[in-house]
Amino acid sequence: MILLLVLPLALCGVATSAQGICLEGDFDSQVQWFIDNVMFSSEDEAEIKQVLDDLKDTMQRRWPGTEVYPHGSSATGVGIKSSDADCYVKIPNFNTSADLYVLGEASRLLQQQPHMYTDLRYELVPTTGVSALLTFRHARTGRSCDVTFTNNSIYQSSAANAYYFNLNDNYKPLVAIIKDWFQVHHLDEKTNLISFNLYLLVIFYLQQLDMVPPAFALQRNHTNVEGIWDLSFDEIPYNSTNTASLYQLLGGFFTYYSDFNFKEFIVSPYAGRPIRKSDFLETDSLPDIFYLYKRNMRETELKPIDTDKAMIMQSMFEHHLNVAETVTQDQVDSFTSQVQIAAKLYKDLPRDEFLKALLSNSQDEDHMATNNCNNTSIQPI
Ligand SMILES: *[C@@H]1O[C@H](CO)[C@@H](O)[C@H](O)[C@H]1NC(C)=O
Ligand SMILES: *[C@@H]1O[C@H](CO)[C@@H](O)[C@H](O)[C@H]1NC(C)=O
Ligand SMILES: *[C@@H]1O[C@H](CO)[C@@H](O)[C@H](O)[C@H]1NC(C)=O
Ligand SMILES: *[C@@H]1O[C@H](CO)[C@@H](O)[C@H](O)[C@H]1NC(C)=O
Ligand SMILES: *[C@@H]1O[C@H](CO)[C@@H](O)[C@H](O)[C@H]1NC(C)=O
Ligand SMILES: *[C@@H]1O[C@H](CO)[C@@H](O)[C@H](O)[C@H]1NC(C)=O
Repeated sequence: MILLLVLPLALCGVATSAQGICLEGDFDSQVQWFIDNVMFSSEDEAEIKQVLDDLKDTMQRRWPGTEVYPHGSSATGVGIKSSDADCYVKIPNFNTSADLYVLGEASRLLQQQPHMYTDLRYELVPTTGVSALLTFRHARTGRSCDVTFTNNSIYQSSAANAYYFNLNDNYKPLVAIIKDWFQVHHLDEKTNLISFNLYLLVIFYLQQLDMVPPAFALQRNHTNVEGIWDLSFDEIPYNSTNTASLYQLLGGFFTYYSDFNFKEFIVSPYAGRPIRKSDFLETDSLPDIFYLYKRNMRETELKPIDTDKAMIMQSMFEHHLNVAETVTQDQVDSFTSQVQIAAKLYKDLPRDEFLKALLSNSQDEDHMATNNCNNTSIQPI
């Protein structure tokens, strides 16, 4: 019997304890244990709802009619216990040119209730950002919360992720296990990649298997796009004939990215296939589905994708944005080598030993396997 201790929770302060992972039995029962104990429970969901409800009450005092919409992992169904609450606060008649003013006002509102909201930070992020504008910690639940005030491509990508991950029952555990693997190996600190990037990698991988549609297929009927980019999508039904199991998908994910050529190719969940970086040097050579990109490069001031970046992960809706643009070559290498280790575990180990090997980190005693599944006592940090 194996007990793995993981402590992702400490990072976000959701809990003050390490959490034991006990993976025994066959692969399927291990996954079930993971779903029951590591992924969001109904209590976690209730906590997130509490955060968003409180925030809504606070915002409505100043802006009646304000609505709060969740996004990010909690809304997508791939939350693990440490996940933040992310939300989009929709203020009636919000005008993005008043962003800074609203931010100031909103943070003042939260500051007035220090017993409810702590650790307040805010910043105006440039349009490329995947980071939120306003961040706080909700005192009662201890959850961190990232707030945006615009229905932007981040919010819409999250809605698209939710659509994708609901197409098959295996996808949410697949994503959550990959996220946990990412944290166990500290890849968040080592790579500049965030969960948002992982979601795109998973979707892109599933597109290669024809298990989910490319994003352009969700916009096929959009003939009159208002604005520069099309941020909307249709939730088309998609019935894949590929019946790969969760175990195969998990191993397949690591195998696929083990030899993905980030030097020459762009990860484009919009196209649903790798696109050569060099194609983006000559806009005309891009496939027709990039008609908005072509038009925007011709008619607006937007800068094209910088093909010199070490890793290019194209935003699903704003195709000039690389959501991995801060990732350096060294970081791509660390990511790839960790992925290769995982792929090798998949190849070498029996099915029932794969998951616990994947989710343990021998260099980190907080993530080491021990031999006692009974000991669920919580360790203070
Ligand atoms: C937004 O506000 C600015 C300044 O208050 C104003 O100039 C602009 O016309 C407004 N835009 C819209 C779409 O209401
Ligand atoms: C596009 O429109 C056609 C005809 O109205 C419809 O049958 C099809 O389902 C639509 N596709 C999407 C992706 O909405
Ligand atoms: C966000 O914007 C998209 C695209 O314009 C729209 O389809 C969607 O309904 C909006 N969502 C909310 C909550 O305003
Ligand atoms: C999906 O396809 C399978 C096999 O072709 C079929 O049995 C199933 O009913 C389909 N499901 C939906 C929702 O269309
Ligand atoms: C765990 O507890 C069960 C029942 O309490 C016991 O049968 C089993 O031997 C224990 N295993 C270990 C490794 O302590
Ligand atoms: C359980 O783990 C804690 C922390 O490592 C340890 O102090 C305690 O002795 C263990 N209990 C048992 C029954 O092994």
